This record gives sequence, structure tokens and C-alpha cells, in this order.
Amino acid sequence: MLFLLLLHVARAAAQNRPLLTLDNVYSQSAPSPPFFTLPSASQLAISVALCSGNLDTAVPRFFVTNSSSTASPGSGGGDDVFEIILSQGQGSWTGVFPSGGVVGVEGAGQMPFEIGVSQDGPLHEILDTQPLVGDSTGTAALLFSPAYSAPTTGIPAYPNYSLPAAIPSLPAPPAPTNCTLVVSPTSNSLTSMPQTACMLTSLKSSGTIVNESLWLRDHEGWRTEWLLTGLTAKTNYTMYAIQEQHKVAGPIFFTTKSSSFSCPLVSRLPYCPMIAYAMPLPPPPSPQVVYDSTNLPAGISDPVTEVLTNFTTVLNTFACGRDFYSPIVTCQDCQSTYRTWLCAISFPRCADPDTAPAAAALLPSQAPNMRNSAFPPGNNYTQLLPCLEACTATDRACPNFLGFKCPLPRFNAAQSYGVGYIDSGVDGEQGGGSTGAWSDNYGNVWCNW
Ligand SMILES: *[C@@H]1O[C@H](CO)[C@@H](O)[C@H](O)[C@H]1NC(C)=O
Ligand SMILES: *[C@@H]1O[C@H](CO)[C@@H](O)[C@H](O)[C@H]1NC(C)=O
Ligand SMILES: *[C@@H]1O[C@H](CO)[C@@H](O)[C@H](O)[C@H]1NC(C)=O
Ligand SMILES: *[C@@H]1O[C@H](CO)[C@@H](O)[C@H](O)[C@H]1NC(C)=O
Ligand SMILES: *[C@@H]1O[C@H](CO)[C@@H](O)[C@H](O)[C@H]1NC(C)=O
Ligand SMILES: *[C@@H]1O[C@H](CO)[C@@H](O)[C@H](O)[C@H]1NC(C)=O
Ligand SMILES: *[C@@H]1O[C@H](CO)[C@@H](O)[C@H](O)[C@H]1NC(C)=O
Repeated sequence: MLFLLLLHVARAAAQNRPLLTLDNVYSQSAPSPPFFTLPSASQLAISVALCSGNLDTAVPRFFVTNSSSTASPGSGGGDDVFEIILSQGQGSWTGVFPSGGVVGVEGAGQMPFEIGVSQDGPLHEILDTQPLVGDSTGTAALLFSPAYSAPTTGIPAYPNYSLPAAIPSLPAPPAPTNCTLVVSPTSNSLTSMPQTACMLTSLKSSGTIVNESLWLRDHEGWRTEWLLTGLTAKTNYTMYAIQEQHKVAGPIFFTTKSSSFSCPLVSRLPYCPMIAYAMPLPPPPSPQVVYDSTNLPAGISDPVTEVLTNFTTVLNTFACGRDFYSPIVTCQDCQSTYRTWLCAISFPRCADPDTAPAAAALLPSQAPNMRNSAFPPGNNYTQLLPCLEACTATDRACPNFLGFKCPLPRFNAAQSYGVGYIDSGVDGEQGGGSTGAWSDNYGNVWCNW
């Protein structure tokens, strides 16, 4: 009799416990009773995320059991009770649930949190891919999500070894991914909060997204590109990209330029897909805020595409795909590195001496270094020089008969390139330079690539 009564009470309690269903995320605060029932499945990933507070404050603890669907797992332990360890406000546990299971919460108080259940890996995650900063002006920035969908480009083969045209036709973009941008002044200390989508998206993001679209910037794949305006000059910002609603990429940092910085942003040039930076040009025709292939003057783009066309013609005189000039690189690598180099030297990148790192490869204003004579002369701007490695990569990837040569670091290279940042400037040791990279995730850009 007593046994039956207890069973009845246990059932009633179990019935008050929400059943978590697959691929759904439950938002909760102050659950009562503090238990959630899990479905039975051969494998489940249970993930939790905190949605408020600070990483320093006391945080709730989460326990999961796969022993039965009526247990009450907690810090008391027991058979098959596991703690979901939180790091930076989120955590997950993956295991087998032949007869269902239960998640128990302790010490949550009023703190809102989320629980997600999936058979395809945790729904909450800190991604190891990073967003990317194109460039900024005093009030605007071009920002990119991590690359999420690599293009499926065929490898050309002899005898029909066709290299992309100077102005390549872009493959069809993938289905739009739900990617959310979070930007906030670094002084708001977002990095000390739970690094979770529910926390970060609950904050007011800075600026206004004027445009959001997909862009195939390089071989890493398609990214969401955001044009953000309404930022404050000379301010360090923290940026995250939220993918699939609950996965967090970032943080990375960028700094807006001085308010006197006058170079507009340029991006979305199919012949120079990696370009997303400020150039010494007059403001684009109103109402546009940035230049792209639709409004960049032909006098600036045509010389570049013509050189690329001619280069490709000459490269094609080599029996690409039949004869090999190197065991490791191909005509395709040659054309692609040449394109990157040509774009970097043809489209000067503006820098702001006030906010650039002290060691950056800056060419002071009005120095005569304009390689694309179509740029309007007399502009007062400081140039961020291309990295010498954009040149040496081309030298390494192209056949000798093209006669492509880079200036030597010990002679005059530093007049026209940033030397010694990525590779050593003394002996050219790869990666042996002062920074080992042309930029970092903290907003420093030392040379242009
Ligand atoms: C619970 O999960 C653990 C770890 O995955 C496993 O060793 C154990 O056999 C599971 N218990 C049951 C009842 O399936
Ligand atoms: C050569 O390749 C291009 C691009 O892959 C294709 O469009 C073209 O039809 C091919 N030509 C021949 C003769 O196979
Ligand atoms: C956003 O960018 C796309 C692609 O460049 C363009 O077609 C569209 O007109 C832009 N929208 C606005 C509002 O600028
Ligand atoms: C995209 O994400 C936002 C916020 O994370 C969400 O509100 C919206 O429903 C999502 N849209 C789609 C189509 O998944
Ligand atoms: C490209 O080749 C054409 C034809 O050979 C030539 O007339 C033109 O001057 C070349 N352009 C450049 C920029 O080298
Ligand atoms: C060029 O810019 C510098 C730094 O912003 C400024 O000091 C100088 O007066 C400017 N010169 C001209 C001619 O505008
Ligand atoms: C921006 O803030 C980050 C984090 O505090 C810092 O590491 C970085 O150096 C700052 N960048 C600049 C340019 O001040």
C-alpha cells in the first residue's frame, strides 16, 4: 500500500518534469522541480548554456543520469550520474541513453539557462572557427562570419586545363545560413560574461547592419559579410558571430579609425575577392556607403583585369596539367597567388597612423607609391603596404619562364612592401618574422594581404 502510494507520488513528480525533445532548446529559469526528462536514444548530446550574469559569479551545476528516466541526479552522486562541466558559461555531455535519462539542476536561483538535446552533437558550442574583420573607417566596418561552406571547384585537367577568367563567374551561393552578428565596445567586457548565444544576443549590439550577404572571399569558403555603420571613432570593439542560433564564434577585436579618416571601404570585387578594405577614393556616389564592383570606376578596375587576362594567357602557353614545373604547385596556384598579389599592389590600402599598431608597414601620406595610376592623385593618406609574402608566394607558385621576381629584403623591398612580419626579413625563413602573420584577432594589422 505504502509502496503504491510512493510510486504514485514519484509518477506525479515525474509528470511535472518537462520532457526534452530532440533538436530543441529549452529556455528556463527557476525550474520546479529542477529536473528534466530525456528521451531514450542510442546517443544523445546534452548541452547547457547560462544566459546572464558574469563568469565570476556562482554558477549553477548540472547533472545528468542515464540510469533511468525517473532518477533525481545531483551533487549527491549515484550510479551513472555525471556532472556537465561548464566552461565559459556552457558545457555538454554525450552518452548512451538506452532507458532515457534525467538532467538535474542545482543552485540555479533565478539565473536563466538553456538546455539542448540532439543526436548530432551539442546544440550549444563555442566554435573553433573565427570571424574575420575586413577593415573599418571611423564609423563603419566590413565584418565576416567564419567560413562555413567550402566551394566545390573542380580541379582542371589536361587537355582542357581551364583557369578561371580574370573576372571569374562565381559559383551559386549556398542556402543562407542563419548567422547573427554581435558587436559591442570592448569596454563593455563581453568576454567576462558567459560566452553563450543567449547571453550575447540579449545585449544591444552596436551599430546598424546596412547590408548582409554571402561572399566567397577565398578557398576557405562562403562567409556572411556584414556592412556595419553607426560606430564610434577610435573605439576598440569586440565581435562575435552566432551560427545555428546557439553556436558562438569569437571573440575577435577591431578598432575604428579616427574621425578624420576619409578613405571609403571597398569589397565584393569578383576579380579581387579577398579585398575588403579602405582605399584612397572619393566618397562613393550617394546613397551608397561603400564601393563594390557595381560602382567602382572602370578606370580603376580595368587595368587590373587586363593585366590578369594577359597573365593568364601567357601562363596558358605552358602545358598546364601535362607538364609540371613543380611537384607541389600548379598553374592554378600560380594564377591564384598572382591574383592576390596583383590586387594587393594595385589597390592601395589606407591606414590610420593614429590607430595602427606602431610597428605596422606604413608609408606616410603623399609618398609617390601609386602603382595603379588610375587612382585620383593628390589624396592625402597613409598607405598600409602589401606584405612581401604576397609577392614571394607568387614567386614560389609560378613557373620560372614567367620571369616573376620579388625585390630582395636586403635591398629595396621595404620601400614598397611590409618586410619581416610573416617571414624573417633576414633570411626569408617562413613564419620566422616578427609577428608571423599579417594580422591578428586583436585588431592589429601590420601589412596588407
Ligand atoms: C551511461 O553512460 C555511461 C557513459 O557513456 C556508460 O558507461 C553507461 O553504460 C551508461 N549507462 C546505461 C544504463 O546505459
Ligand atoms: C573545358 O572545361 C570547361 C570548364 O570546366 C567547360 O566549360 C568546357 O566545356 C570544357 N571543354 C571541353 C572541350 O571539354
Ligand atoms: C547589399 O549587397 C548586395 C550585394 O552586393 C546588393 O545587391 C544589395 O543591393 C545591397 N543592399 C543594400 C541595401 O545596399
Ligand atoms: C535565426 O536566428 C534568430 C536568432 O537566433 C531566430 O530568432 C530566427 O528564428 C532564426 N531564423 C531561422 C530561419 O532559423
Ligand atoms: C595585354 O595584351 C594585349 C594584347 O597582347 C596588349 O595590347 C595590352 O597592352 C596588354 N595589356 C597589358 C596591361 O599588359
Ligand atoms: C594630410 O594629413 C595630415 C595628417 O592627417 C595632416 O596633418 C595634413 O595637414 C594633411 N595635409 C593636407 C594637404 O591636407
Ligand atoms: C582591443 O581589446 C583587446 C581586448 O582587451 C586587446 O587585447 C587589444 O589589444 C585591443 N586592441 C587595440 C587596438 O587596442
